[in-house]
Amino acid sequence: MAERKKIGIGMLGAGWMGRAHTNAYITARYMFWPTSNWEPELVVIGSSTEEKGKLAAQRFGYQQGVGGYEAIINNPRVDVFDNVTPDRIHVEPSIAAAKAGKHVICEKPLAVGARDAKRMLDAVNEAKVKHLCCFNYRFFPAVQLAYDLIQDGVLGKIYHFSGNYYQDHGSDENTPAEDIWYIGWSGVAQGITSHLIDMSRFLIGEVESVHGMVRTYNKVRNSKNGPIDVTADEGFFSMVEFANGVTGVYQSLGVANGRRSRFSFEIYGSKGSLAWNVEEPNFLDIYLSESADPRVLGFTRVCATEPNHPFMNVWWPPGHTLGWEHGHINMIAHFLDCVANDKPVAPRAATFEDGYKVAVIIDTINESSKQGKKLAVQY
Ligand SMILES: NC(=O)c1ccc[n+]([C@@H]2O[C@H](COP(=O)([O-])OP(=O)(O)OC[C@H]3O[C@@H](n4cnc5c(N)ncnc54)[C@H](O)[C@@H]3O)[C@@H](O)[C@H]2O)c1
Repeated sequence: MAERKKIGIGMLGAGWMGRAHTNAYITARYMFWPTSNWEPELVVIGSSTEEKGKLAAQRFGYQQGVGGYEAIINNPRVDVFDNVTPDRIHVEPSIAAAKAGKHVICEKPLAVGARDAKRMLDAVNEAKVKHLCCFNYRFFPAVQLAYDLIQDGVLGKIYHFSGNYYQDHGSDENTPAEDIWYIGWSGVAQGITSHLIDMSRFLIGEVESVHGMVRTYNKVRNSKNGPIDVTADEGFFSMVEFANGVTGVYQSLGVANGRRSRFSFEIYGSKGSLAWNVEEPNFLDIYLSESADPRVLGFTRVCATEPNHPFMNVWWPPGHTLGWEHGHINMIAHFLDCVANDKPVAPRAATFEDGYKVAVIIDTINESSKQGKKLAVQY
């Protein structure tokens, strides 16, 4: 068995994603065995106060809990700084960590706005550290399989990408603002459309122009302090042209009544088509027009749990399915492998460059919606 390199983890943030990423480090350590030569070590976790940091350390098993990020980036035993704080706190701690020479993981959206995202990208490039923006949906085996099939030309000439990300937290116009995550945070576009845009760039290629339509359906909401004006977007749509000539459509909603968190895409090509949705993440629906017996022509459901499917060599026997958290585990394992063995993080995983480009596309869709016309995306 290969010698295992210890990789010290310093995490900032201890909420939902703090749990998901910690679960990924702990699980990856023993599931990617004996195939890996790395081993994450939970060194320190920080939260908004020292007390919260200490509680998180106790719960998750980090050796130390602290308040703020300085004690994390100044700790020589930390190799990877993992930023899982709310969107608006991604920027300065991640830049400081890169300057301190740490490899940096940052949750999506990389930043709320392209200008800050560019500062983050410049910082990791200048420091020559490895970087990952957490577009975890790339890391379902079925999605990596879709990537491989497209790269291998199995779909022929690609014509069109259609993607939806629908949630329903804001459907009821009487739901108070505090109970709708996308109002307190930074809108549907940053929260969920960012995943959709990243997926389209991963599978299809660079986005060249957009024609957006952005809506806030409920401009006034009740809150604890009475009615408030809402500016966060609740509907985010765009027609898209990719640089390779493929057309596309993005549709995302925070008011899609009944859709709890439905992320899906379909891709149409000259030799075949693909469809996937996160509610059934193990399955890739594939139609190949040339290979099927004409009597059984139609979409085939491939359960991407065979040992030859991406990442499945470390998981369960065929037919024993994975869940949402496995996307994070596979993504973190990929990053640790890149750190330990000096491998490139892209193109399988999203880097800060991808996070920056997604931010530019979101800004351009917002501007296009305001101007009511198609705009070129300028990176
Ligand atoms: N990739 C995904 O699947 C996914 C899913 C949900 C959220 N996210 C993203 O992950 C990030 C975190 O979201 P979450 O749902 O875990 O949030 P959360 O509110 O559950 O947790 C945020 C944590 O950050 C801490 N925190 C807040 N301000 C801080 C500060 N100034 N310094 C240090 N710690 C601070 C909080 O105490 C809390 O522990 C967000 O950027 C969000 O958009 C990603």
